Amino acid sequence: MRVLVTGGAGYIGSISVEALLAAGHEPVVLDDLSTGHRTSVPPDVPFHRGTYGDQIAMAHLLEAQRIEAILHCAARSLVGESVREPSRYYRENVVGGVALLEAAREAGVGRIVFSSTAAVYGIPDETPIPEEAPLRPINPYGETKRTFESALAWYGSAYGLRSVSLRYFNAAGASDRNGEIHDPETHLIPAILAAAEGRAPLTVFGDDFDTPDGTPIRDYIHVEDLAGAHVLALEATAPGDVRTGPPAGGSVPLVCNLGNGRGASVKEVLHAAETVVGRPIPHVVGPRREGDPPILVAAADRASAVLGWRPELGDLETMIGSAWAWRRRNPDGYAA
Ligand SMILES: NC(=O)c1ccc[n+]([C@@H]2O[C@H](COP(=O)([O-])OP(=O)(O)OC[C@H]3O[C@@H](n4cnc5c(N)ncnc54)[C@H](O)[C@@H]3O)[C@@H](O)[C@H]2O)c1
Repeated sequence: MRVLVTGGAGYIGSISVEALLAAGHEPVVLDDLSTGHRTSVPPDVPFHRGTYGDQIAMAHLLEAQRIEAILHCAARSLVGESVREPSRYYRENVVGGVALLEAAREAGVGRIVFSSTAAVYGIPDETPIPEEAPLRPINPYGETKRTFESALAWYGSAYGLRSVSLRYFNAAGASDRNGEIHDPETHLIPAILAAAEGRAPLTVFGDDFDTPDGTPIRDYIHVEDLAGAHVLALEATAPGDVRTGPPAGGSVPLVCNLGNGRGASVKEVLHAAETVVGRPIPHVVGPRREGDPPILVAAADRASAVLGWRPELGDLETMIGSAWAWRRRNPDGYAA
């Protein structure tokens, strides 16, 4: 299958490109390199620099590259920035996203897998969080992801677009080729490893939550496990596949959480990282961040039941170990 991967030069997108290649598919990458890295994409994979929000260029690209399905990973994805600058999030994640859907319609591409997020749930009433939980995002990032999920549902019922929205919890780890480098770094594991390298101080945001050790609990999922789920999800959008719609007319969007269904606290992650790097990692405890729920863990059975997905790299030390190994091999990140 020829798959356009938007954001294919980013952290999750680039490792999804690797998984698509390994499964025998043909990825084509579209990325504006706003947060991605050209060298994360293998040189023999077609690469196009540009934005998915340019409907005319996208329709042309989809047709010229004979694209059959889209993996839409590109987005603005910083919670704090989204609160300060909602216009950018609505413009890119919603307006740009709809331009991509229109281009797909024009080019006759009827299959899409979308990088959604646990942020669509906001502060949940129950945990582990099932997909049926109410969607009450508490920031524009989560809200714009929820809006795009809804657009997929309506495009499905009206135009037969087949879609899978994958609500990731916390992606972690690295492949041999690609890893996580963001600036600013808002994710816990790279922030801990940067502190271990002496590059940046580490603050634990609050140790007075209602959890066993007082620090927030999150569900970490190895990025290679995530990437594997994307391949299965793309395959589930095939015409006639009952998982994404009836054989004739309309379609039913499939939504799956992607997590391990187990949580780890900030302190547990820190201790696992200290085991991996073999020394204490300096840190200070600061005040809580606004809107940080105590526990966010996925109910992840739907992805196993419907997609046949089995996360295999769920052990915390395995995840952190792969991230650490990648950083050791690439001390300058993608700069070298
Ligand atoms: N990393 C996580 O833990 C996590 C969790 C939940 C959801 N997500 C979602 O997964 C997706 C990928 O996240 P990531 O961590 O790999 O982020 P990332 O920033 O590493 O990757 C995003 C990629 O998209 C590209 N991009 C951004 N805007 C673009 C545009 N308008 N046109 C073309 N390319 C554009 C960037 O250059 C980058 O390569 C995002 O949609 C994010 O919201 C990530």
